[in-house]
Parts: sequence; C-alpha cells; structure tokens
Amino acid sequence: MRFRTWLVLLIGVASLAALGPLPVSAQDGAATFKTKCSACHGAEGQGKIGPALKGTSLSADDIANLLTKGDDAKKPPHKKALNGVSDGDAKAIAEFVKTLK
Ligand code: HEC
Repeated sequence: MRFRTWLVLLIGVASLAALGPLPVSAQDGAATFKTKCSACHGAEGQGKIGPALKGTSLSADDIANLLTKGDDAKKPPHKKALNGVSDGDAKAIAEFVKTLK
C-alpha cells in the first residue's frame, strides 16, 4: 500500500516535470498552438515546414488523436505522440485549429 502511494506520487511529480512549469489550461489552445505548433505550421496555420492546417478537413477529434497518440503513417514529429501535450491541451489546440480559416 505504502509503496504504491509513493509510486503514484512519484509518477505524478515526474509527469508534471515533463510537462513543464504548469499544465496548460484547456482554454489556452491558441497560446499552446503558438508555442508548440506554429514553428512548423505557421502562426495562422498557413503552413511552413509542416502542411497548412487552416481549413483542414480533419475533425477536431482526428487532430487531437494525432497529437496524443501519433500516427505511424505520418512523418515525424507525428509518428508518435507530441511531448508535453496532454489530452486537455490536444482538445483545446484541435478546437483552435478548427477556427483557423
Ligand atoms: C517539427 C515540426 C512540427 C511540429 C512542431 C508540429 N507539426 Fe504537425 N506536421 C508536421 C509535418 C512535417 C506534418 C506532415 C506529416 C505527414 O504528412 O506525414 C504535419 C502534419 C500535421 C497534421 C496533419 C495534416 C493533414 O492534413 O494531414 C496535423 C493536424 C498537425 N500536423 C497538427 C499539429 C499541431 C496541432 C501541432 C502542435 C501541437 C503540430 N502539428 C506540431 C510538422 C510539425
């Protein structure tokens, strides 16, 4: 019992540390997009190293899944889940991406 409690605490602290200073709130899709995506996809989702995302035909769920699970058929960095993007972040980012036109 004790050991498990410690383990849970340890994993909790470790994953917080991996995410950076504070978990990003779900409302911060735009801000998270800017820090985590815009270098490759452009600040307006117009595309850069990565393809344009504005007007994408993907659903918000598809986008969120790509971010949290990755897709083996995709090129890096999307073969794997993106580092430091929680499920909540991914949903918020995906909703923001869907607002880009
Ligand atoms: C290091 C550069 C890089 C970063 C950072 C990055 N992407 Fe990408 N992204 C790419 C590349 C390259 C592709 C094309 C992959 C392919 O087609 O195989 C892509 C593809 C995608 C696609 C699929 C587009 C389509 O039409 O199939 C989505 C959605 C996407 N990225 C969203 C995001 C979001 C949201 C973030 C931020 C959380 C992000 N990406 C961060 C480079 C990046």
